[in-house]
This record gives sequence, C-alpha cells and structure tokens, in this order.
Amino acid sequence: MKKHTPVMVEEVLEGLNVREGGRYIDATFGLGGHSGEIVRLGGDVLGIDVDPETQAVHGNFRDIERIAREHGFDQVDGILFDLGVSSHQLDTPERGFSFRYPHALLDLRMNPEQGAPASEYIKKLSEEELYEILATFGEEKLARTIAHALVGARRVRPLTSVGDVARVVVEVVRNSKETTATLARVFQAIRIAVNDELGALKEGLRGAQRLLTSGGRLAVLSYHSLEDRVVKREIGRLGLWAVTKRPMRPSIQEQQENPRSRSAKLRIAEKL
Ligand SMILES: C[S@@+](CC[C@H](N)C(=O)[O-])C[C@H]1O[C@@H](n2cnc3c(N)ncnc32)[C@H](O)[C@@H]1O
Repeated sequence: MKKHTPVMVEEVLEGLNVREGGRYIDATFGLGGHSGEIVRLGGDVLGIDVDPETQAVHGNFRDIERIAREHGFDQVDGILFDLGVSSHQLDTPERGFSFRYPHALLDLRMNPEQGAPASEYIKKLSEEELYEILATFGEEKLARTIAHALVGARRVRPLTSVGDVARVVVEVVRNSKETTATLARVFQAIRIAVNDELGALKEGLRGAQRLLTSGGRLAVLSYHSLEDRVVKREIGRLGLWAVTKRPMRPSIQEQQENPRSRSAKLRIAEKL
C-alpha cells in the first residue's frame, strides 16, 4: 500500500479528548493513520471503511450505528470522520479516482465490489441530470456546457475511461490555466454522485450522534465546501454543541508539507 499522511493529527486527537481506556470509532479508517495515533495514546478503536482493500471492518459509515453495535461499540467517547479518498486510492490508477490516469476505467466507487462503476452510472443520466450533478456537487460554472459536450461525445462512443471524460472537459475549457481545476471539480462531482457521499454523510452523522456518550466528541475532517456545509448544518440539527464555531484549518507548515491537507476543515462537536 502506498502512503497516506494523516491530516491535522494533533488537532483531531485533542478535539476528541483521546484518553487511555477511552473508546473510539474511526469511521473512515483508510490506512489507519489517525487510528494508530489514538491507539498509541491508549484508546480502544473500532476502525470502519467501505473500501474492501483496507484493514478495517468493512462497511459504509451510513450504517455506523448497526456496525458499531455488532462490534460492541454501543457507547463511545469519540468518533472521527476523515472524509473523501485516501492518497492510496487516488494513486491507484485502476480505481479511476484521478484524472491523471487517462487509461483507467471510469470507476470511482469507494467500494468497487458494490453497485455500478461511474461509466455505467453516467451512461443513464440525461443531459439535465448531468448538469445538476456537475453544478451541485462540483459547483462548476461550465456545468451546462460540459454536460452538453459529454452527451454529444457519448452519442459517438460510450464514455468508459477516465480519459474519455477528461478529453471532453479539456476541449470545453480550452484555457490551460483552468483545466486542472475544472477536471478536479468534474471528477469530484461524479465521485460524490456515484457514492451518494452527502447522503451517506448525513446518515453517518445521525448514527454517530446516537452512539456518543454524553460528553463524547465528534471530529469531522472535510475537504470541500459542500461537505463542510452538511457537517455544520447536521451538528446544529442534532443538537450537538459546536466546540469549534468556525472550522479549524491546518497550520501553514502542514499545508506546505502535505499539499492534500490544504483544503481540510476540521469541526469538533460534543454531545451534551
Ligand atoms: C481520507 S481517507 C482516511 C484516511 C485515514 N484517516 C488515515 O489516516 O489513513 C478516507 C477514507 O474514507 C473511506 N470512506 C469514504 N466514504 C466512506 C463511507 N461512506 N463509509 C466508510 N468509509 C468511507 C474511504 O474508503 C477512505 O479510505
């Protein structure tokens, strides 16, 4: 497995009030970076991840309550969600997460053993639905034009590889400075839709609220504004006390050392 540098580790450990003998759930185990640190401080961790390649209990965090109870973690002191994909997933071409690997199949599933790959998913969408996805989940200004171009390209040949989609986007953008950012937004949008990421997040946070003991802490690391908005709103709806009124951001040093941390926002909340 390739490396994944965990983000804002000190802030997460402090936010969760990790202590010896405490019980924690890492809802997005990944390569276990955060879990390892919690264990090092004497915490007991249940690691969950939807990706069958991880060394965790496999499951979607939208089912966190059931999974936790099945593993005897009914009442816990802290729960961490570190959203999105790991560097390992991004750097594995076959997963189709990165537009840097044009030959990869357009998959983008967090769990490639379940559901259909993105190539199948987008095949069935109307131009309007494609537009909605790009505009909502990618906050993409060129959503209308890109959706139109994708549907046009799809009539000629099915869009089965990462490159099939990337080429259409590059042609629409035509401004090399904007290309990478646009590609990132388009692939983010497809990924969020294929995995129903925001739906899973809402359900996961609701389950987490029920599993926390009073005084228990929730820590959520998000990487784009849509996720952060959902987290902020759900913390309020669930009656959790927002320990961080505004999200915490990684230090300048961490952002320099780990570029992936640059967009991170950390929110901490407590069950009263
Ligand atoms: C940013 S990585 C976590 C990295 C981890 N904190 C570490 O230090 O190694 C996000 C992980 O969350 C997982 N994930 C994404 N959505 C999920 C979901 N709905 N349920 C469970 N795991 C999910 C991904 O498979 C990925 O491994």
